[in-house]
Amino acid sequence: MRRYHFAETEDKKWLPGSIRSYMVDYLRFMGEILDVYRPSYEIIRKLCRETGERKITDLCSGGGGISLRLAEELKDEIDSIVLSDLYPNTDSFRYLASRNSKISFITEPVDARDVPDSLKGIRTIYSSIPHFSPDEVKDIFRSSFTSSNPIAVFEAAERKISHLLVILIFTPILFFLFTPFIRPFRFGRLFFTYVFPVVPVLTTFDGIVSVLRMYKSEELLTLAKESVPEYRWEGGCIRDGMRKVNYVTGRAV
Ligand SMILES: C[S@@+](CC[C@H](N)C(=O)[O-])C[C@H]1O[C@@H](n2cnc3c(N)ncnc32)[C@H](O)[C@@H]1O
Repeated sequence: MRRYHFAETEDKKWLPGSIRSYMVDYLRFMGEILDVYRPSYEIIRKLCRETGERKITDLCSGGGGISLRLAEELKDEIDSIVLSDLYPNTDSFRYLASRNSKISFITEPVDARDVPDSLKGIRTIYSSIPHFSPDEVKDIFRSSFTSSNPIAVFEAAERKISHLLVILIFTPILFFLFTPFIRPFRFGRLFFTYVFPVVPVLTTFDGIVSVLRMYKSEELLTLAKESVPEYRWEGGCIRDGMRKVNYVTGRAV
């Protein structure tokens, strides 16, 4: 299947902040309970060892993604995880920071295409690289190089019909079953899921668009090598049982 770069509702400024938060909180909740990014922990551990870095700056953090699990799994390797987003979900960031002292967050918007040089550490991007066009992906890689920071990009979904079907069928069901358990608790979350189900509808729509514009790991690796030939790039697919994650990492040689 070829790549189609349509826009997600999440990319739109007009999307109300609370709806956006409920959508990305769902992603964090499912990511945490299914531990979909477990294979990525070993890659980050290796990057920490190779670069001597003990800090992570997470870009496009959404509802906080898997930061809590990451902080727990890599407690010996990582001193801090800083969450950031173009539309910072401070409600969820604060909730996560209260659960693990290694997690902190930036309240100002941080655009992954133009990250301030002051933000140091390994830059991670989970479940978000499809938001960017090939040229923007190259800019993101270049900016990590010019600021002398390693970078690691992870994607659990793939550009496949089967993944489209899984999202189409399971997203509404999972929302229906799990919404009351998603934290922080908000009545708005229940209202916009069960009474006026805009959150499951938009999340399903965005999931489909996201799969259609997903990069294959070899495509990402090609963009990475073209943008920063000076870095040591690694990429591919890593598995842990049923879990499968595509990744690309880059660091100084
Ligand atoms: C799929 S969601 C969240 C993924 C989150 N990392 C996770 O694992 O749950 C993608 C996030 O990217 C953010 N985003 C989109 N464009 C961005 C940009 N240019 N800079 C930073 N964040 C951006 C959106 O606001 C959204 O929160």
